[in-house]
Amino acid sequence: MKIGIPLERKLLEGRIALTPTAVASLVQQGHQLLVEVNAGLKSGYNNQQYINAGAQIVADLTTVYSADLIIKVKEPIAEEIQLLRQHQLLFCYLHLAAYPEVLAGLLTQKTTALAFETLTVDGRLPLLAPMSAIAGRLAMQLAIYYLQQNNNGKGILLGGVMNTPKGVIVVLGAGVAGSHAAALALAFGAEVYVFDRSEQALAALTEQYPQAHAEIFSEARLAELLPQTDIVIGAILIKGANALKVLTQALQQLLNKGSIIIDIAIDQGGCVEGIRATDWQQPIYWQAGIGYIAVTNMPGAVPRTSTQALSAAILPYVQKIAAGALAIDSELQSAIAVKDGKVIHSALLI
Ligand SMILES: NC(=O)c1ccc[n+]([C@@H]2O[C@H](COP(=O)([O-])OP(=O)(O)OC[C@H]3O[C@@H](n4cnc5c(N)ncnc54)[C@H](O)[C@@H]3O)[C@@H](O)[C@H]2O)c1
Repeated sequence: MKIGIPLERKLLEGRIALTPTAVASLVQQGHQLLVEVNAGLKSGYNNQQYINAGAQIVADLTTVYSADLIIKVKEPIAEEIQLLRQHQLLFCYLHLAAYPEVLAGLLTQKTTALAFETLTVDGRLPLLAPMSAIAGRLAMQLAIYYLQQNNNGKGILLGGVMNTPKGVIVVLGAGVAGSHAAALALAFGAEVYVFDRSEQALAALTEQYPQAHAEIFSEARLAELLPQTDIVIGAILIKGANALKVLTQALQQLLNKGSIIIDIAIDQGGCVEGIRATDWQQPIYWQAGIGYIAVTNMPGAVPRTSTQALSAAILPYVQKIAAGALAIDSELQSAIAVKDGKVIHSALLI
């Protein structure tokens, strides 16, 4: 199969979908790989490494999109959507519930598009998990930085030192992103509260991190905690659908000035009422003294790590698609969002 890998075009996105090693394994299986020039540079992979792996470096997007299967990281932009066509396969993060214009474009082009983030194996989302882990950890790194007074924050050192109180973190969602954010906050010595609607998710979290306070989501309990909270991390997910706005405007008003809210779930529309998406050029905006961060491609800022993690996760599925297994493989089918101009994933039909 002819497989195309374009350069990512989202602002300050540094990832590429597959490393040269992953490309080499596909070439060995008899596939033809087209990689757009310089697509791997920000992840530390140059054109020569892709040539050595057996790929052809191509200079223009149109040639990349002549492939039968397009593998990329983030949802396609308008310029890319126009190049898609029927009977072509697209495999990447799509988050279509949050991007109706991308959904409309894919339906018009009649492409078959498979979303990394909904591919399900035994109830898990193995192609979302590595990026959620990275986003959870990065969220804490960012929040710690913006808590500094010179960055408009409260002037708090998260873990405190002798004779000072610890910083307080509230994490909404005890899944992959939430538990990784909690892990880093605990490592910094903070007091960490994690809320989820699932008992099972909370039990799994406390088993791994017994120092975290794990509680069933409750607005009343949040209202009690938020006046003492320094950082809120939003990390809830309803697979394939838009997230619920669980951190309402009324709850946000209970935070003191200089507090930071990071909505990791912004790629699924966000779980913080009224929040606007931001980007890596300007990750934060301040409103009524609260810092809001909602970067839709968080792992794009650490592309070396993210590309290696993503490439390892997706390669087995790319191999199966390229071998023609889509029609018979239920795991691959769980990722199909749209096909031949029709919506397939149930969360998008709501
Ligand atoms: N911004 C980025 O760059 C970026 C990167 C990776 C992941 N994400 C996003 O992070 C979010 C979390 O992903 P994940 O992999 O950790 O998901 P996950 O499925 O592992 O965890 C989500 C948790 O949210 C809980 N939840 C759902 N609805 C809830 C509600 N109403 N109240 C309380 N808890 C609720 C679920 O029970 C689950 O435990 C997703 O939206 C994902 O797309 C964003």
